[in-house]
Amino acid sequence: MSDQAQMLRNLVQSQASRQEKQTRVITVTSGKGGVGKSNFSLNFALMLQSKGYKVLLFDADVGMANIDVLMGSSPKYSLYHLLKREQSIWDIIHTGYNNLQFIAGGSGFNDLLNLDDTEIDYFVEQVGQLNGHVDFILFDTGAGLSKEAFRFIVAAQETVVVTTPEPTSITDAYALIKMVHSMNGQTPFKLVVNRVTDLKEGRQTADKISMVARQFLGLELPLLGYIDEDIHVSKAVKKQIPFTVLYPSCAATRAVHGIMERFLSGQLESGEQAGGVKSFLNKMMKLLK
Ligand SMILES: Nc1ncnc2c1ncn2[C@@H]1O[C@H](COP(=O)(O)OP(=O)(O)O)[C@@H](O)[C@H]1O
Ligand SMILES: [Mg+2]
Repeated sequence: MSDQAQMLRNLVQSQASRQEKQTRVITVTSGKGGVGKSNFSLNFALMLQSKGYKVLLFDADVGMANIDVLMGSSPKYSLYHLLKREQSIWDIIHTGYNNLQFIAGGSGFNDLLNLDDTEIDYFVEQVGQLNGHVDFILFDTGAGLSKEAFRFIVAAQETVVVTTPEPTSITDAYALIKMVHSMNGQTPFKLVVNRVTDLKEGRQTADKISMVARQFLGLELPLLGYIDEDIHVSKAVKKQIPFTVLYPSCAATRAVHGIMERFLSGQLESGEQAGGVKSFLNKMMKLLK
């Protein structure tokens, strides 16, 4: 076989295997802001990446850019440029720590909800190109029931809800779950309790929210784990280096590691398997138009 034919064959094979790869689409959300959602998303993404998975972290907290700031980078292009059809999806993907790929949210705008049909089509087509390129796409959504956050959550295959032990955070998380559940009863939620002072507080928080979800919504809320209240988190934020990178053995890092292990070992529940990016986008499109 000529060199050229061999090259072609390799190309076709790599294309084929790329298409077989299933991309899991996960949203990370919370009822209330400031609960540690962006820090969790970033460090969880880095943990998955360090396990050998290819991860794309997508800052979908439109207009409130976080992820780039947490990494001390100021990327030229962001989601904004994609939404405005100024750049392609490939131009707005940047590389962070441990070769983590990420898309910055951009700041100073809040018009995802005002996109016209051509802009939506462009967004959906561009994000669709990611299918099979990565193992995981993680969306760090805005807090609460903003329209955008809502669409991402309802469309994603899995949703991780971050709460703290504070009553306001718990009630807001529950309100969010209830609202999404009423729209799409199939959305599988998983819970992360952040900033716990001890195991008991973590367990009590998880029990509270799980009990009401079971009782009033008939919904199971599997727990991915607790993350300790840890001074290293805010130290790392100030240094603009992810805490799992800066403090690889601090309590919060160990906790995120445990969560990652539990996440990977957990069986996908029914309804989660289907579709990858394509099914995500189909659902998203129905909600947008
Ligand atoms: N486990 C933790 N321990 C201590 N402080 C934390 C922890 N998680 C978050 N924080 C603090 O909360 C702040 C807000 O976190 P962030 O991830 O930006 O929240 P969100 O994305 O939910 O708005 C951080 O800057 C940090 O100071
Ligand atoms: Mg945030």
